[in-house]
Amino acid sequence: MSLLEVSSLTVRFAGLVAVDAVDLAVEAGSIHALIGPNGAGKTTTFNLITGLIPPTSGSIRLDGVDITALPAFRRAGCGMARSFQNIRIFAGLTVLENVLTGLHAGLGSNLLDVVLRLPGFRRQERDAVARARAALEIVGLAGRADDAATALAYGDQRRLEIARAIVARPRLLLLDEPAAGMNPAETEALAALVRRIRDAGTTVLLVEHDMGFVMGIADRVTVLNFGRRIADGAPAAVRRDPAVITAYLGAKVAARLEAAG
Ligand SMILES: Nc1ncnc2c1ncn2[C@@H]1O[C@H](COP(=O)(O)OP(=O)(O)OP(=O)(O)O)[C@@H](O)[C@H]1O
Ligand SMILES: [Mg+2]
Repeated sequence: MSLLEVSSLTVRFAGLVAVDAVDLAVEAGSIHALIGPNGAGKTTTFNLITGLIPPTSGSIRLDGVDITALPAFRRAGCGMARSFQNIRIFAGLTVLENVLTGLHAGLGSNLLDVVLRLPGFRRQERDAVARARAALEIVGLAGRADDAATALAYGDQRRLEIARAIVARPRLLLLDEPAAGMNPAETEALAALVRRIRDAGTTVLLVEHDMGFVMGIADRVTVLNFGRRIADGAPAAVRRDPAVITAYLGAKVAARLEAAG
């Protein structure tokens, strides 16, 4: 059984079938890439999986449990976390506080505890801060904890989003274009970070247009085009697939990837 099993997932927006009967199986412990041209339905698939929008039809199972009808916050509670294609950080908060928001759903305290600052709450708060600092350490931002989030450079803001997503130790992490806007050195560091996250026990599903990054890191690749799945398999097989070369890669990129091994 796969950790994530998406069956025949479909969503229609006024006249447009943005995601069309997509099947997707993400194995536990893997790094799985979802690729395809602009507008192929990748982000929409993430929005369906994380519960931001409801599907027209189809089903989503996490660890065998049907979560198709669960609201987004309940899916987070089931161990799902994500980052967004367009960075979403809280501008008025520090780096550390931004990471703490990733634990919000998991904190057990009720409002009364918070208001009265009961010992249980203070202990939880200390634990939460320790976990947030550990997440910042993992992404390499430990030294920036008390800075304003907006003071971070763009690439660092992307890593902050990842810290916020992993702080609750999700089983499944969805990253939407994590390498976008990064230079080659940052992209290489990102690849190492994603591997560390996977090695620590989090399964990763990522959308990315940087094919060098994808082919170097993914155990499996699924390709969408116009909302439909057109290929699914090992990176080496997918990059040679004529349908994928025609719809997305182009002959030049395919040849370069082939040469790079
Ligand atoms: N809420 C919405 N209402 C109507 N159409 C939408 C909505 N969200 C997405 N779409 C459309 O669905 C299609 C798929 O969009 P999506 O954002 O999933 O593409 P993508 O594969 O993530 O592309 P990119 O690589 O550019 O990020 C596009 O044609 C988009 O315009
Ligand atoms: Mg997108």
